[in-house]
Amino acid sequence: MASANPSLHLANDSIPAPAGVRVKAIKPAVGSYISGYRFDGNTVSDDFRASMRELLHTRGLVVFEPGTVTAENFTRFAGFLGEFFNYAGPHTPRAPENPDATMISASKDAHLRNHVWHADGGFRADAPAFTALFGKQIPDSGGDTMFANAAHVYDMLDPLFAQYLETLKVVQSPDATGHITDRYLDPEEAAQARLRMPPFEMPLIRVHPVSGRKWVAINESYVCYIKGVGRIHSQNILGILFDMIKSPEATCRVEWEQGALAVWDNRVVQHRAIKDYTSNATRILYRCTMTA
Ligand SMILES: [Fe+2]
Repeated sequence: MASANPSLHLANDSIPAPAGVRVKAIKPAVGSYISGYRFDGNTVSDDFRASMRELLHTRGLVVFEPGTVTAENFTRFAGFLGEFFNYAGPHTPRAPENPDATMISASKDAHLRNHVWHADGGFRADAPAFTALFGKQIPDSGGDTMFANAAHVYDMLDPLFAQYLETLKVVQSPDATGHITDRYLDPEEAAQARLRMPPFEMPLIRVHPVSGRKWVAINESYVCYIKGVGRIHSQNILGILFDMIKSPEATCRVEWEQGALAVWDNRVVQHRAIKDYTSNATRILYRCTMTA
């Protein structure tokens, strides 16, 4: 472990980083990489907890180097952010060595739609505040994850356009791009899923409850249309915003390492997997989600 650097801070000048911990920005819009920290499996100091929350609200995404946590204890580490928020259904298996984690594996789930931009649980009005993803088994090449900071996207908007967008609401649904239709092949199961997860309305621009930053609260997976405007109007405005969200200026790309951990603010940061790995490659990530 490197020696302490007294001038290093995680996010807030009042809270110095623990000795030996190094923090590096991944890209200007989103992401910090932390090395030199080892979770002991039990405790996270109050200072570290506070500065991690601050960093997540400032930088949106924090990636920890391999060796920081294990497949068995990463949920305990991430659990300092809030209560576990388990919305796992019959299509989301548990991780074998960690009952608090679900397993994301393209080879186990033919209907996995993680390559479309989304917020985890974004088909619910009360989507989780944080997600943690642990790199269990990573392809030799490919399978990166892209992250986009929708608060940065708001800051890039022309102010008059932003003012107009703030008057709009969007309708969101888990079936906006066919998640229910493609997954629940039994008509009765599909009907039950639609009853459990009905469409809901949200302001297109939302305000982060902790940071106070505004963000463009839409994603390609779960937004159906802008309420009260014509289809072409809605489609084109959403298209402009989706293009801004996935622009290089608003995003970063995380190349997974086995044993790395990514934690992000699931409200303003959305993500997608890149499905460029070969069909015989195995890509397994373990996930847990937390409320605020
Ligand atoms: Fe996801």
